[in-house]
Amino acid sequence: SSKGQPYRTGYHFQPPKNWINDLSGPMIYKGIYHLFYQYNPKGAVWGNIVWAHSTSTDLINWTPQGYGIYPSHPSDINGTWSGSTTFLQDGTPAILYTGINPKNQQVQNLAVPKNRSDPYLKDWVKNLKNPLMAPTPQNRINASSFRDPTTAWMGRDKIWRVIIGSKVDRKGMAVLYTSKDFVNWVRADHPLHSTDGTGMWECPDFFPVLVGGYKNGLDTSKLGPKVKHVLKVSLDDTKHDHYTIGNYDPIKDVYTPDHDGLADKDFGLRYDYGKYYASKTFFDSSMNRRILLGWINESSSVVDDIKKGWSGVHTIPRTIWLHKSGKQLVQWPVKELEKLRGKPVVVPTRVLNGGSKVEVKGVTAVQADVEMYFGKFDLSRAEKLDPSWTDPQLICSRMGSSVRGKLGPFGLLVLGSKGLEEYTAVFYRIFKASDSKYVVLMCSDQSKSSLNNANDKTTYGTFLDIDPIKEMLSLRTLIDHSIVESFGGFGKSCITSRVYPTLAIDGAAHLYAFNNGTQHVRIARLTAWSMKKAHIA
Ligand code: FRU
Repeated sequence: SSKGQPYRTGYHFQPPKNWINDLSGPMIYKGIYHLFYQYNPKGAVWGNIVWAHSTSTDLINWTPQGYGIYPSHPSDINGTWSGSTTFLQDGTPAILYTGINPKNQQVQNLAVPKNRSDPYLKDWVKNLKNPLMAPTPQNRINASSFRDPTTAWMGRDKIWRVIIGSKVDRKGMAVLYTSKDFVNWVRADHPLHSTDGTGMWECPDFFPVLVGGYKNGLDTSKLGPKVKHVLKVSLDDTKHDHYTIGNYDPIKDVYTPDHDGLADKDFGLRYDYGKYYASKTFFDSSMNRRILLGWINESSSVVDDIKKGWSGVHTIPRTIWLHKSGKQLVQWPVKELEKLRGKPVVVPTRVLNGGSKVEVKGVTAVQADVEMYFGKFDLSRAEKLDPSWTDPQLICSRMGSSVRGKLGPFGLLVLGSKGLEEYTAVFYRIFKASDSKYVVLMCSDQSKSSLNNANDKTTYGTFLDIDPIKEMLSLRTLIDHSIVESFGGFGKSCITSRVYPTLAIDGAAHLYAFNNGTQHVRIARLTAWSMKKAHIA
């Protein structure tokens, strides 16, 4: 990392300085990937928001392209907030985004490329009829809770639909608008979906997924018998991205989740059980996959953010698809990331005795990709799960990596200092729920991640829906200076954390496999790669 900047990343997206938040309008156009994001040109805290713009040919290396959209007209003079790209029928990439007008109301605007033959899409022209959707006394839309239009989809009736995040009192909702020409929009008499008690829905995302466990992505307008739909919302209240899987009725224009969101305390499932927000997907037509991008906020203090001069990073783009069970989505880093891997360091099959650890040497521990597979466990030794332990994050916080169990905690100690004064532990515990049922807990424990106590060191956790009797347990962790992005069960559960070690920086960081249970565990294989620096400017 550059001098005095130990927390800047080597291969995760971030601009040279200043504040970033949500990514917006991702797309592929003429073979070029486009990423826009909320950016403050003037500092490391939120404000003065423009759409900064970068392009890429592989989703890993990025070239800046200046500002795509910035305040210039009454309909966006006080801010150009999040939005999405839709390809019109003639192939034009059209951006719908939220503008903040002179009355500080949230309104929706349209912009199209100035020159469609420019693959870099540097200049954008705003529609003269902007705003195209706005709160009025008649439609009773709350002018401070009406933002973040999705990619629109077209029905068989050739009518466009789009949803906008909103709320009425405590009821979060996806307000639905329709249009024949993408310019004149009419509010539907009902939302696509709403849920009581969830508060404001930011950055909704609504997209089809293929049934059957295939990794193929679908164009956003795709309908059909082998198609389910996903509704994701970023809950302003919880600051987490929650999703449900369900059915979309294209005639009634309503979405019905398979499991009532209300029944679940946490409103459906989460893309990531760590620090992760305001994500968005797009269909990558060149590779027939759907890509998920997300924003990772800092866990450091504002004072420290201002001192380092920047705040916010983005996740590694993840391919996203419906698991064959139909019950959840699966996410995996795009395979282009593997081009950054150096020579693999392999720890062959070995037993990790209870209370032991092994250092993985010969790898740049501060900037690495680690894949780990575990062998069969002696499940008869698993401890009983107390039936009242229903909150995985709470179990992980009460039973951190230093709390001895039976089968677990075992996993990785990353960004560790030489004497382990600092480390972040990503680990599993296996519990017995009944005679034939086991529960796998996945944790990311930041409590020892830094000697600097000004950071948020919350421990994260989730259950991983695999059956250790039949399935192999795996863990992949991307380590990047201040990011620890982990994928459990081949992408069934993800946890991203931000950490700011003071000792375990640059060449002084170490990587270990550990087992702090009383029972031994077998590493079937561990492979670690030093990661090259991506070209990101
Ligand atoms: C989510 C969000 C969006 C809004 C944008 C403003 O992080 O609050 O709802 O459009 O950020 O920067």
